[in-house]
Amino acid sequence: MPFTLPELPYAESALEPSIDAQTMNIHRLKHHKAYVDNLNKALEGQADWAGKSIEQLCGAIGSVPEAIRGAVRNNGGGHFNHLMFWRIMAPKGTGGAPSAALAAAIANGIGSMDELKAKLADAGLKRFGSGWAWLIKKADGSVCVTSTPNQDNPLMIGLVDAPGTPLMGIDVWEHAYYLKYQNRRADYLAAWWDVVNWNEVSARFGA
Ligand SMILES: [Fe+2]
Repeated sequence: MPFTLPELPYAESALEPSIDAQTMNIHRLKHHKAYVDNLNKALEGQADWAGKSIEQLCGAIGSVPEAIRGAVRNNGGGHFNHLMFWRIMAPKGTGGAPSAALAAAIANGIGSMDELKAKLADAGLKRFGSGWAWLIKKADGSVCVTSTPNQDNPLMIGLVDAPGTPLMGIDVWEHAYYLKYQNRRADYLAAWWDVVNWNEVSARFGA
């Protein structure tokens, strides 16, 4: 099996009160696990594709055989997005601050940290149904905010309005917040900022 479910880098309860332990448990062990299992199933017998990294699969989604493209798009996207999501969060007070280079890129491309929060909240709230709100690094090194439906992500060139390297993605599927916040997606998005792992987001910007 090429892909496996990752361990969390912190306890399931470590992101409370922003994200409750039960949500973290179900989100990873049920939802993320289903993406991993279904991705592996789709790649069975696909020797040309089963050896690729998850980033390569997402980036080449348009070339994946049509018979499995939909499954790889949904489940491969789901795997990449959740791998990133667990790592760009950290217990409150431990995530550090944006690096100088990232802070400068945010200032140049977006304005202030408050504007970044407002734009990501807007992207997340306007995403009808399920999807993700993203801060991405474009090919020219600048940053911008965008969103995608379902489990699409900015690596999926040709499928998304703004392709780039995902620095930060906020999961706005109901499975990410409904147990604690029910229909109050805006409250979830506001509380999420307490658990950002800026050290990880900055590393992604520098990579
Ligand atoms: Fe999710």
